Amino acid sequence: MKNYKKTFWNILNLIEDYERYGFEDVHPEAEFNEEKKKSREELLSDISTEVKKCTLCVLSKNRKNPVPGEGILDPLVMIIGEGPGAEEDRTGKPFIGRAGKYLDKWLEAIKLSRNENCFIGNIVKCRPPNNRDPKPEESFACFPYLERQIDILKPKVILTVGRISSQIMTGRSLGIGALRGKIYRYKDTPLVTTYHPSGVLRNPALRPRVWDDLRLLRTVIDERM
Ligand code: URA
Ligand code: SF4
Repeated sequence: MKNYKKTFWNILNLIEDYERYGFEDVHPEAEFNEEKKKSREELLSDISTEVKKCTLCVLSKNRKNPVPGEGILDPLVMIIGEGPGAEEDRTGKPFIGRAGKYLDKWLEAIKLSRNENCFIGNIVKCRPPNNRDPKPEESFACFPYLERQIDILKPKVILTVGRISSQIMTGRSLGIGALRGKIYRYKDTPLVTTYHPSGVLRNPALRPRVWDDLRLLRTVIDERM
């Protein structure tokens, strides 16, 4: 009697499965996972679309173009700056002004290139007037976009440039001189900090320290390759 009951329940389960899924080779959840993998680029471009329409903070008022960030999926490094400057606001592209060209040289010095193995973004996606520091409420409003970008991109290492992005991403309030030189973690991703390229252009005495930071960055990347 017991066995009959078991068989009966098994048949019911089969009927239930058939009603739900039909006789398909691939379980719907497996397909769903495949779909999720395929659409990382779409998820990333969804963020750019949202950013382009965003009015969550006052920086939306004076921007010409928001700068969502640019680069490849699974980058070796995700570079996080502060916010767009004049050139970036004009074009919608990150780090393309004087500081950006200098940043490209830093990357080249440790065999990286923005087009091949990096993603470049910012704490705030819209230009602060007269390049002032983003206010905490603006950084706070914009942060979820960055968080989603990092989750999708899965960089091997994060490099923050300048005080603002280094403080926000490490959750510490020290100046950049005290923050640099260590390896932090953002969620599970190692994170290295350094000065902002604009600051180093103004004060070339910082160059040896940046070089040390870049070498540290390269070591962390090589360990994870
Ligand atoms: N400075 C930044 O912090 N970000 C840019 O995109 C350009 C200059
Ligand atoms: Fe939205 Fe960020 Fe632009 Fe503010 S800076 S309007 S939060 S995209």
